[in-house]
Amino acid sequence: MIIAFAGVLFALLSSGACGSQSVQNVLWLPCQFVDEIIRLNSEGHRETEYHHRDAVLQFSNTGDRPINPNAITFLVTASKVDIRRYVEGGWDALQCEIRRYSTSGIVVRWPGLGAQEHDVWFICAFHHSEGRFVITTFLRHTLADSGFTEWIQVEDRQILTTSVALVVLTRTPSVRVGLMKDLTLHCQFAVDHKQANVTVEWRQQRRGERTKLFTYSSRTGQSEGSGVSLRGLSNAGNASLKLPPTTQASEGTYMCSVLVPPLYISQDITLSILEPPRVSVNVGSSLALTLGAEQKVMCDAEGYYPLDVTIEWQRERVGSSFIPQPSLEDSGYKYTCRVYHKALLTPVRKSFTLSVTEPDTTWWYVSVLGFIILMIVILVWLMPQLNDARRQSARKRF
Ligand SMILES: *[C@@H]1O[C@H](CO)[C@@H](O)[C@H](O)[C@H]1NC(C)=O
Ligand SMILES: *[C@@H]1O[C@H](CO)[C@@H](O)[C@H](O)[C@H]1NC(C)=O
Repeated sequence: MIIAFAGVLFALLSSGACGSQSVQNVLWLPCQFVDEIIRLNSEGHRETEYHHRDAVLQFSNTGDRPINPNAITFLVTASKVDIRRYVEGGWDALQCEIRRYSTSGIVVRWPGLGAQEHDVWFICAFHHSEGRFVITTFLRHTLADSGFTEWIQVEDRQILTTSVALVVLTRTPSVRVGLMKDLTLHCQFAVDHKQANVTVEWRQQRRGERTKLFTYSSRTGQSEGSGVSLRGLSNAGNASLKLPPTTQASEGTYMCSVLVPPLYISQDITLSILEPPRVSVNVGSSLALTLGAEQKVMCDAEGYYPLDVTIEWQRERVGSSFIPQPSLEDSGYKYTCRVYHKALLTPVRKSFTLSVTEPDTTWWYVSVLGFIILMIVILVWLMPQLNDARRQSARKRF
């Protein structure tokens, strides 16, 4: 793969023109409950309306008083999964959102239910505002009547007692990395009961194409693909995927999905490749030219990704005329090639200073003068001999 772009500068034509708070102890946090209301519109079609409602996630026990009586309270009672231990770096930078979760018709009883009970699910996502992690949790609210309805009315000021059934998180929701780098995409999960039936899957989506990279089922103990440590997976819910050294094809969206029936979550991780260009100029830091000579100066950028690069030449003092060949006037200027690329915070600069001199004429004068002198010397030496010869021939005639 050769990625190269050449910015060409002909004999200096350029005259500028081209050129916190402790996390474990937190008792509650504000949240948005994004409620869905399905209505029939004027044409009789079903439409989903989203309503943002104030809510509080309150970590305490069943029957506790709500901290904010004016909001909907999702009371999170203790379970084997404490989501607070997954939050790093304080709650200030956290966005919390709760939505309803539909099991899409899958009826699987969650362990620990009484015969007459059924679950109503909510999904709660924590996004770190600087993109350090995304944590998705399934909140299980148990109803004590047998009439199965997933869709319960949630009133303002209602208290919903829940517990965390499943948490899936990534600490690498968005990764930017160079080429030929070793990289592990983080994905981790925890379930509130032992011997849960878990299926873990990794897929990559790139330019509309999906590739399955890895699958594992705890029920069969079988896996396909590579990159995930099976021991870490079954012992600690560590589903992190180790990638081969990065290439352009590593780019895309990676999906770490965890299925614990009836719950399913797919966590997206975006991977972008960013490799800065290597920049070179084919002349040294100074370039000496004589008037009338031509020199092609190239500024090369290679090895970069993505394939967008901008190369420009600049002359230190900006002029306006276009000079196809160096003139004495161009002498003493500094010419700088600047390369702009997405992977560079500031452009790469490569410069050289130009000196233009007039062709040396002294030697020509010296040569001409030498020739004339030589001619005179020869003449002076030849004249007497010529005269002698003439005299002799004259004598013969007489
Ligand atoms: C796992 O799945 C098997 C077969 O579907 C079922 O018999 C078993 O009870 C499940 N285990 C748990 C803990 O849900
Ligand atoms: C999880 O697994 C990855 C890859 O197998 C490994 O690099 C990482 O250290 C593990 N994390 C923990 C917390 O064990």
